[in-house]
Amino acid sequence: MTDRNVGRFFDTLTGDYTETIERCFPRYREMLWALLDYLPQDRTFNSVLELGCGTGNLSVLLREAFPNATLQLVDLSSESLEICRSRFSADCRHEFHQQDFGTATYDDGSFDLVVSSIAIHHLDAAGKQLLFRRIHGWLTNDGVLCFADQCAGGADDLNERHIFNWKRQSMNAGSNDAEWTMWMQHQADHDHHDTLGDQMEWLREAGFAVVDCPWRYLLWSVVQARK
Ligand SMILES: C[S@@+](CC[C@H](N)C(=O)[O-])C[C@H]1O[C@@H](n2cnc3c(N)ncnc32)[C@H](O)[C@@H]1O
Repeated sequence: MTDRNVGRFFDTLTGDYTETIERCFPRYREMLWALLDYLPQDRTFNSVLELGCGTGNLSVLLREAFPNATLQLVDLSSESLEICRSRFSADCRHEFHQQDFGTATYDDGSFDLVVSSIAIHHLDAAGKQLLFRRIHGWLTNDGVLCFADQCAGGADDLNERHIFNWKRQSMNAGSNDAEWTMWMQHQADHDHHDTLGDQMEWLREAGFAVVDCPWRYLLWSVVQARK
C-alpha cells in the first residue's frame, strides 16, 4: 500500500536533493551507472517507464543512453517532478506524471524497459509483489525491469552492520547527527526494507525468467529481471 505522505517528504527535500543524496547514500552515482551498464547491450529501448523519477538524476542518464526512446516519468512529489521536467526541453516528447506507481495502470506490453532508483522500497511487501506482477504485464515480451533500491540484510546482524557502515560513510562524506536522525526518522515513517532474496523470489513468482543482482553495496542493490 502506498504511503502518500512520502511525496510530501520529498517535496521538502527537493532544492538540495542531489547534494543530500550524494552525501548520505554511499556510491549513489555508481549505482545509477550500474543500473544502466548491465542492461542487455545488444538492444536499444524505445519505450521506457521510470517509477519515482524524483528530480531526474536517472531520467537524464536514460535520455543520454536511449536518445530515441520516449520516457514516461512518474513521481508522487510535485516539486521533484517540476525539477525533473526543468532538466528537459519544454517541447520534448517525454511525459511527466504526478502519480502513485503503487496504483498506476498501463496497457499490457506498453514498455520495453521499466526502471526505478531508490523508490520501490516505499511500498510494503504486498505492494511490491503486486507491482512486480503488474510490471511483468506492462512489459513487452522481451522487456526488462531494472531497479536500484534499499534492501534489508538477510539476518539482523548483517542488517545492523549495513546500517553501521552506512552511518560511518555518510559522516565521512560530511553528514551530521541531525541529518542522520532525519533519515532514520524517514526510514521509520516511510520505508519498507525487504530482503534482496525475497524480492528476487517475488520477481520469479511474477513470471520473470531471468532475475539477477549485478551490483550490491550495503543496503543498495541493482536488480534486473527479464521476461
Ligand atoms: C529517494 S527518492 C529517489 C529519486 C530518484 N529516483 C533518484 O534516484 O534520485 C524516491 C522518490 O520516489 C518517489 N515515490 C515514492 N513512492 C512513490 C509512489 N508510490 N509513487 C510515485 N512516486 C513515489 C518519491 O516522491 C521520491 O521522489
